[in-house]
Amino acid sequence: MKKLLTTLFVLSLAVPFVNAVEKENINVSYAGQKTVNRNMNGQLWLDTDGNHINAHGGNIIKYKGTYYWYGENRPYRGGTTEAGISVYSSKDLLSWKNEGVALSVSKEAGHDIEKGCIMERPKVLYNKKTKKFVMLFHLELKGRGYEAARVAFAQSDSPVGPFTFIRSTRINAGKWPFNMSDSEIEEAKTTDAAKWKDWWTPEWMAETKKGMYLWRDMKGGQMSRDMTLYTDDDGKVYHITSSQENLTLLISELTDDYLDYTGKYVMVAPGGQNEAPCIFKKDNKYWMICSGCTGWAPNEARMFVSDNIWGTWKQLPSPFVGVATDYKNMPANKTFGAQGTYIMQVKDRFIFMADIWNPGHLSQSLHLWLPIDFDANGTPVIKWRKDWMEK
Ligand code: GAL
Repeated sequence: MKKLLTTLFVLSLAVPFVNAVEKENINVSYAGQKTVNRNMNGQLWLDTDGNHINAHGGNIIKYKGTYYWYGENRPYRGGTTEAGISVYSSKDLLSWKNEGVALSVSKEAGHDIEKGCIMERPKVLYNKKTKKFVMLFHLELKGRGYEAARVAFAQSDSPVGPFTFIRSTRINAGKWPFNMSDSEIEEAKTTDAAKWKDWWTPEWMAETKKGMYLWRDMKGGQMSRDMTLYTDDDGKVYHITSSQENLTLLISELTDDYLDYTGKYVMVAPGGQNEAPCIFKKDNKYWMICSGCTGWAPNEARMFVSDNIWGTWKQLPSPFVGVATDYKNMPANKTFGAQGTYIMQVKDRFIFMADIWNPGHLSQSLHLWLPIDFDANGTPVIKWRKDWMEK
């Protein structure tokens, strides 16, 4: 009888969870499992408590032999941030312990990170000089949709937080990209974004490429939405972000404490509509993989290569090939249903980390990790694998 009661009790706990995910047609083969040996692509990824890992759009760092995974803590319903930024820890990248909320939303009305704001794409780095863990993320202010387009800074003495919010801002106010010539700057100053009711005409695109939105936002600072951070071999850190109405990427150098900009920056692919930038370096070449701009819906990835962080960046086709045989047969030209968030180096391998967004239930968005292969010319190729550790 006791056994029966226990079984009924366990079932009563399990049923709402299974129902919730079944509705979304997600494979629930791990449901109820308490220890996870291997999280597989196309399925929920459970932490050591048996819950799907709620850390989206984030990154992973290694500190003193432990990996820390930071990401958006998303509610089951709704698109705003109700808790903050999550952190999980792991010794082996396989079994993840929920370390709670690393940066919490504020209860204070009018605060930049007031509960109900939108925090996206957090990236954390350890700063050896200041001995602080520094977090940058995309912030949208409460009740203002996606119009604020700010970057926010927070820092902590511990990898698991609590992180203290520092400030949020637009970027590079009053500064021109360092590689723009005087005549290019004069040319940009002739543009007027307010004049264009219709986008995507050849004339509008020509003006955009001249730096029309750069000029529009010169005084108040440039927009900053989807973002990543990259630490180069010399220790310099760069903030790479979707700016100018998500039309153009900006690569900006950070100060040594990672809490500000040096003022040195460039535009990449003006008018190219690149989001979700992810970057790595191999054999002295910088590779950047981005998505197009279709909100939560998947689209075809783009790739860029450069010999120098400042460019010139050359655009190449998407590195994705084949179909996601374990996830709805999603094709390569939809990035297997996912959008990148970070490229993590593990020994000599580069792991492309992505989210398969579930806009109806963002907390249930799946994680997709795939190792990057290289063809005979050394060009990145990403093919589907159920198990990201498979060679
Ligand atoms: C995506 C972006 C996400 C989020 C979403 C909102 O394109 O990568 O981070 O901003 O749009 O629609």
